[in-house]
Amino acid sequence: MSVTVRVPAKVNVQLAVGQARADGYHDLANVFLAVSLYDEVTATPADGLRVTCEGADAGQVPLDGTNLAARAATALAERYGRDPAVHLHIAKDIPVAGGMAGGSADAAGALLACDALWGTGASRAELLELCAELGSDVPFGLVGGAALGTGRGERLVELAVGGEFHWVFAQAGRGLSTPAVYREFDRLAEGREIPEPAAAQPVLDALAKGDPDALAVALANDLQPAALSLCPELSDTLAAGRAAGALAALVSGSGPTTAFLAADARSAAEVAAVLRASGTCREARTASGPAPGATVL
Ligand code: C5P
Repeated sequence: MSVTVRVPAKVNVQLAVGQARADGYHDLANVFLAVSLYDEVTATPADGLRVTCEGADAGQVPLDGTNLAARAATALAERYGRDPAVHLHIAKDIPVAGGMAGGSADAAGALLACDALWGTGASRAELLELCAELGSDVPFGLVGGAALGTGRGERLVELAVGGEFHWVFAQAGRGLSTPAVYREFDRLAEGREIPEPAAAQPVLDALAKGDPDALAVALANDLQPAALSLCPELSDTLAAGRAAGALAALVSGSGPTTAFLAADARSAAEVAAVLRASGTCREARTASGPAPGATVL
């Protein structure tokens, strides 16, 4: 017997970052949108905890106890007195170290899959609490759709979305470490007054209306200057996507994946084709959002 869970990637349509806190994290106002790039996590009873991974980027995924999906299984087992004797297989389609919360998605997927396999009877609130302990972006992997994350991003309020948004995601030739991007944010912020992060009403209104033109002018990512500072070649990718007709271009989360909002599915396909041919990225994929959160298949 095994359980497979499908779990989406995310793009941040707004990422407002505050001053570094005493614990090293940053308070955020993080408007997440789940998009239709998915990983699938399959949990199968085994002699011990084991992780395998398939997909183009599989070689970059750690398969030991540091894997966030393995940590999710261990945390759930500890909380509910189970033996984490499970084989987790990750079919990976979300870019690795890309700023699309792929590792967090795998953790949310593993948690839901093991929960179903072991029949823990955990409530949704208990699962969300475990997700928050595993990482700031993990609760959103479970919830999906669109949500405002506050605190370090883990406290979620679900948001209404009035339509489908079409995107292109360009994968960079290398990954970026999230802590490194936050450190660069701190370095660039030195000596400057950083305002308290707050959700921008135009972003929430554009989502609620399902209006891509309104969302295009409201998109904002405070981590973008830090990601561009560490990965300057991303400005060429952003420029190529804008020139190809994207309504807006920005770095996805901590990067280095770049995100392009398109007017419709056809325009997204065109932007993706131009980006692929531009030589400024490794791959360009279309996806739409909102996408559902972690789902048992
Ligand atoms: O929560 P998570 O483990 O995903 O965070 C990874 C890293 O990103 C943290 O160790 C921290 O360096 C940075 N981070 C942050 N502020 C946040 C979320 C993450 O500084 N709100």
